[in-house]
Amino acid sequence: MCGIVGYIGKRDVAPLLLEGLQRLEYRGYDSAGIAIAGKSGGLKTVKAKGRVRELEARVPKRFTGTTGIAHTRWATHGAPSDDNAHPHLDAEGKVAVVHNGIIDNATELRAKLTADGVEFRSETDTEVLTHLIGRSQADTLEEKVRQSLALIEGTYGVAVLHADFPDRIVVARNGSPVVLGIGEKEMFVASDVAALVTHTRQVVTLDDGEMATLKADDFRTYTTDGARTTASPTTVEWEAESYDMGGHDTYMHKEMAEQVEAVDRVLRGRIDDRFSTVHLGGLNLDAREARAVRRVKILGCGTSYHAGLIGAGLIEELARIPADGEPASEFRYRNPVVDPDTLYVAVSQSGETYDVLAAVQELKRKGARVLGMVNVVGSAIARETDGGVYVHAGPEVCVVSTKCFTNTVVAFALLALHLGRIRDLSVADGKRLIAGLRKLPGQIAEILEQEPEIKKLAEEYADARSMMFIGRVRGYPVALEASLKLKEISYIHAEAYPASELKHGPLALIEPAMPTIAIVPDDDLLEKNRAALEEIKARSGPILAVAHREQEKADHTIVVPKSEQELDPILMGIPLQLLAYHTALALGRDIDKPRNLAKSVTVE
Ligand code: F6R
Repeated sequence: MCGIVGYIGKRDVAPLLLEGLQRLEYRGYDSAGIAIAGKSGGLKTVKAKGRVRELEARVPKRFTGTTGIAHTRWATHGAPSDDNAHPHLDAEGKVAVVHNGIIDNATELRAKLTADGVEFRSETDTEVLTHLIGRSQADTLEEKVRQSLALIEGTYGVAVLHADFPDRIVVARNGSPVVLGIGEKEMFVASDVAALVTHTRQVVTLDDGEMATLKADDFRTYTTDGARTTASPTTVEWEAESYDMGGHDTYMHKEMAEQVEAVDRVLRGRIDDRFSTVHLGGLNLDAREARAVRRVKILGCGTSYHAGLIGAGLIEELARIPADGEPASEFRYRNPVVDPDTLYVAVSQSGETYDVLAAVQELKRKGARVLGMVNVVGSAIARETDGGVYVHAGPEVCVVSTKCFTNTVVAFALLALHLGRIRDLSVADGKRLIAGLRKLPGQIAEILEQEPEIKKLAEEYADARSMMFIGRVRGYPVALEASLKLKEISYIHAEAYPASELKHGPLALIEPAMPTIAIVPDDDLLEKNRAALEEIKARSGPILAVAHREQEKADHTIVVPKSEQELDPILMGIPLQLLAYHTALALGRDIDKPRNLAKSVTVE
């Protein structure tokens, strides 16, 4: 959510920053801006409402310099506009600040500064910080920033440039990611490694409460209290090319296609045929501790919450441990009872979602054991949790999640199998499920081959104003996720209901203009699901079934390969990603950057 990029070195900075912004645009795309320290002293800025390409068109020819910071915004305080775009400048135009996060006491500070005669040029919370730094009487930029941060409450990832200190960029983190990239006589900073990997893979991730000073040939890190910290650089695993579109028209299309190899990757090295189980190296939970778990509570937001619901089902089925999922955003506000025998699992593909992080912190404060189910190695949630399972999906650039969702569900299947085999799951069932897991990449490839037919169906349904998604037990979270995907990128209203609940109300919506997408696996609930299709047909509702064989009552059936029934939810969602994609395409939507959304919700 919002992207920051900065550079200090010898190269011409504007093209570098624009390229970085383009790579971060998935984190926010309503306005963008750049500030650079000009060769002849002073700062130069350019800002534009809209996409990075609009900013690029505005950058003047002589916009040269070798130090600069930039930002792409997802509006929180103040509508998208040129004025509200970052960087923000202080009254004298000497200080430029880019900021991710929210300053909670901005209104109060703004009132004080206004009373002191400061004139604000934007409606943003960030401008408050800019003026505080500009007005600080401290001698060094570090001290000016430190003093100002001490006055603000809230979350931030910030980068600060000062005309009087053109040899450095000062950055700080509290709740919003800041990553330093170490180059050859040059330094980068970004809110996400996506902006760094084409230049360097040596990175340092700041902790909350940490600051850094970047110079062209050197950097140092310290706490907001001024104490030096040791920064150990790590190497980013992801290749720069994995951030490219790779010949696809959209990132979403590329990422759906990548599910074959991504699922293969999450399985790799983890299956133990000898004991018909899986090894999860980072779990930090020995067999005795795993046996002592009495409940599992899974927390996540949006798509990750849906993956958690499927995970809860898998854990309950395979390990016979009561398990449930809950939106982390709700959990953290309801003063939850934290039980010492419960294992908590925080799910987040970015590892930065603020609501999930806050839930983890609340749990840790209350002494709970929390595992992470995260895609981004070294992210805040990965670091805050006591252990966990990396989902190894590779970078996901499209705002809506596809391959991360699928890999998270597979990672949950691994966790469930692991916990199951420590408890009462038989060797035979372990073997059966392992064989099922191994088949998944090939089965996903088979589903993806049906894209041309799914595209035709999508075009047929694209003029619907609303759609109903139904599923039963294992199929219900699949319906929830499929309906979210459709809403997010096509803007068609969609409802998801357990098929068993139809008669209790939503059946009233069924009519010829309301298509139902039904998840109908060949499992022990097949007949029940067929009965629901009958009920819909009797009300002339069009039906598209996702099933293991043609469904007579449905107008169309997408047939998916049969898996082990516990693993069905992994495969049944994939054709519905394609359905959402092609519906959105037929409607001419901006698929990778849906309206009002941004990747990684690092604010409340
Ligand atoms: C939807 C989507 C979101 C995220 C949610 C949590 O396609 O991607 O619903 O799943 O914002 O994000 P993470 O998983 O990064 O915690």
